[in-house]
Amino acid sequence: MGKQFFDNMLYGGDYNPEQWPRDIWDEDMRIFKKASINTATINVFSWAKLQPSENEYDFSELDDIIDMLTKEEYTIILGTSTAALPAWMSRQYPDVNRVDFEGRKHRHGHRHNHCPNSPSFQGFAKKLVNKLAERYGDHPNVKVWHISNEYSGECYCDNCAKAFRVWVKDKYQTVDAVNEAWNMNFWGHTLYSFDDITPPNYLGDGISDTAAAFAGLSIDYRRFNSDSLLNNFKLEKQEIRRFDKETPVTTNLMGAYKSLDYFKWAKEMDFVSWDSYPSHQTPLSHTAMNHDLMRGLKDGQSFMLMEQTPSQQNWQPYNALKRPGKMRAQSYQTIAHGGDTIQFFQLRRSKGATEKFHGAVIEHVGHENTRVFREVAELGKELEQLGDALIGAETPAKVGILFDWDNYWALEYTSGPTVDLRYVEQIQNYYDACYNQQVPVDMIHMDTDFEKYDVILAPVLYMVKEGISEKIEQYVKNGGAFVTTFMSGIVDQSDNVHLGGYPGPLRDVLGIWVEEIDALAPEQRNQVVMKKGQFNQEKYDCRMVCDLLHTEGAEVIAEYGTDFYKGMPTITKNNFGAGEAWYIGTVPEQKLLDELIGKLLKSKGIQGFEYLPAGVEIASRKKAENEFYFLMNHTEESQTVETPFEGYKDLLTGDQVTRNIELKPFDVKILLENN
Ligand code: GLA
Ligand code: ZN
Repeated sequence: MGKQFFDNMLYGGDYNPEQWPRDIWDEDMRIFKKASINTATINVFSWAKLQPSENEYDFSELDDIIDMLTKEEYTIILGTSTAALPAWMSRQYPDVNRVDFEGRKHRHGHRHNHCPNSPSFQGFAKKLVNKLAERYGDHPNVKVWHISNEYSGECYCDNCAKAFRVWVKDKYQTVDAVNEAWNMNFWGHTLYSFDDITPPNYLGDGISDTAAAFAGLSIDYRRFNSDSLLNNFKLEKQEIRRFDKETPVTTNLMGAYKSLDYFKWAKEMDFVSWDSYPSHQTPLSHTAMNHDLMRGLKDGQSFMLMEQTPSQQNWQPYNALKRPGKMRAQSYQTIAHGGDTIQFFQLRRSKGATEKFHGAVIEHVGHENTRVFREVAELGKELEQLGDALIGAETPAKVGILFDWDNYWALEYTSGPTVDLRYVEQIQNYYDACYNQQVPVDMIHMDTDFEKYDVILAPVLYMVKEGISEKIEQYVKNGGAFVTTFMSGIVDQSDNVHLGGYPGPLRDVLGIWVEEIDALAPEQRNQVVMKKGQFNQEKYDCRMVCDLLHTEGAEVIAEYGTDFYKGMPTITKNNFGAGEAWYIGTVPEQKLLDELIGKLLKSKGIQGFEYLPAGVEIASRKKAENEFYFLMNHTEESQTVETPFEGYKDLLTGDQVTRNIELKPFDVKILLENN
């Protein structure tokens, strides 16, 4: 936390000169300079060039690229190139290719798709990275190592099966313990030996990404697969460290990406980097939550924005241009939420293949006289002027939202009560309740020190692993405010139910028990009727899931308004020790959630900026004595907002602001108290 990896804002992005003739390289250097670009991420997909055959390595072109960038004083982020396999490798060593969920053996093609447990892949990757590290490890301009690229997906091949058996044996020791954990008595799936274990894809006990016959098995396979890919990362990092003890090592993550347990990954990364690709319809709060999650991975340490597009993407169904000013506003949103760098995919738009319509700093026209370039150049100048003012600054938050990949997997594997339940969506509802009143949030994990937070929100805490309920009880006893919802406290780490009434180990702290869980079709609604406290409405709609619950000490805040469980509690609050524990037994409409969470935050002295117009955001970062407030208009209209910042200085213009601040379309101000 608060660690400063760079002395200035890195500004640049993915750069692929190996795809272009030399005269273009010179032109690149000339043009990038005009945009104050100071950083290039190179060598991300160059394995085929670096190693044209099994026994042949050729670093001459990479040497040239690095020489050129060094001469131009670039910060180099050096990829290891292992994200796409060379064709000869797939041909000669087919074990490098994956077997997919349907059981199909893949051939050469695409990228991000090596088998993590392939001995050939591991051997070749290790050797390549060893050579790269030996050659460039002490190069003064190589300031970051970027391993592979967007690790993702799963493999179900025989090598993975073999490795999975070892992983399972390591975890459970005996076959009996495995049978117990996965509840294999069900359907007579009893395993007799570790050899009976098969990867849970479609040919075995898998059903789909969101359904499993034996969720315990499928969840363990996800843990194993995430670990396997992480082992690949660690293997490459180890080779780098043989020659280079210092340079930070990272890889680019993808927000709330499902397949990898990023909290575990972050422990192995020197800093987190990630790729942010909101579509033109992505709500602002979703991007904000992703940034906060990425910052949360290393307990608040700021992150690198490895990729964003200067304008267009190519892989959304509708790839809207970023409206003038939007890219800049998005960039500052990134910085406001903990980003210390701004990088693009890509610096020059490729001339062929799937990404030829993907935005870039230099577009197909080949010169700098474009709207996109001008915007990139303007931002570059601004970031240059900001220097290191914001780098390493912290984002103070008194609210923590629990995010947990085991829960993500487990919740989405459940067969029942409803197919509509999505983990990230439920977390997002609670994040939005804070975001809608501009209250900063930390995304936290199970090992986080809860005591740092006045309020902890833990929506759909479906899987309660060992030690967690005790930790929550302690937190509430000591005065913390804890909020959880329907589908919480239900299973243990292996997806077996905590018997004795839901929400299992959370029953005491919540002072309730849940007897039944009703599921509502998408068009159905029930009502939440407020019984206690002052709310704007007497009744609100609710949907999707309705818990039928009984209090055991908790007070009833609201009850259902219709159906045979009309009058049963749906929202409760339990005073427990010096704190309070809330249960929300349904999915209320967002305005109720906003109100409810808003009141709770206020009761804890947490006040945001709730009267801002929609699309205007305030976020802050703190460095030493300075607290920087980012005031951002993410809309295409001018907005006038009343703020408490009268007399503050706008870091971007040097102007002093008045109480009422006028924000032009996509305008941004970074405000600092003038003293
Ligand atoms: C990902 C990849 C890049 C590129 C972009 C396009 O983030 O890392 O190589 O394909 O997507 O949006
Ligand atoms: Zn495999």
